Amino acid sequence: MAIRNIVKDGDDILHKKCREVIKFDQRLWVLLDDMAETMYDADGVGLAGPQVGVLRRVCVIDIGEGLIELVNPVVIKTEGEQETAEGCLSFPGEYGITKRPMFVTVKAQDRNGKFFEISGKELLAKALCHEIDHLDGIVYKDIVIRMLSPEEIE
Ligand code: NI
Repeated sequence: MAIRNIVKDGDDILHKKCREVIKFDQRLWVLLDDMAETMYDADGVGLAGPQVGVLRRVCVIDIGEGLIELVNPVVIKTEGEQETAEGCLSFPGEYGITKRPMFVTVKAQDRNGKFFEISGKELLAKALCHEIDHLDGIVYKDIVIRMLSPEEIE
């Protein structure tokens, strides 16, 4: 496993659409392992392919309840809404208020290509939406209602 560089604000790759994963091979497994290690090293709750310079539909999430690996994830159901503060490892130190669904159900594949569904509410719903947006070249700042001031972050 290895820690990869996290792509930061200003890099075009963050605004590109990712391609589907077709091969569930060693290369994918190494990528997923590296992404998890990179996310934990940076104290994040999620990380998506473009953030490590890979335009593939993969992301990892851990909101403190264990690692979730998502390959080719698609939001299939949303319910309700929440307006909360959100940040991103590609925009260190910045936070903004976003509106996200309160509940989300996602269909995805695991590292072996097996399909599964995962549902989340609150923080997990937000993380799922945030990471899947990354795969379509959308960062939270594209949908932010307002950015928080430095005083608000403290
Ligand atoms: Ni992000």
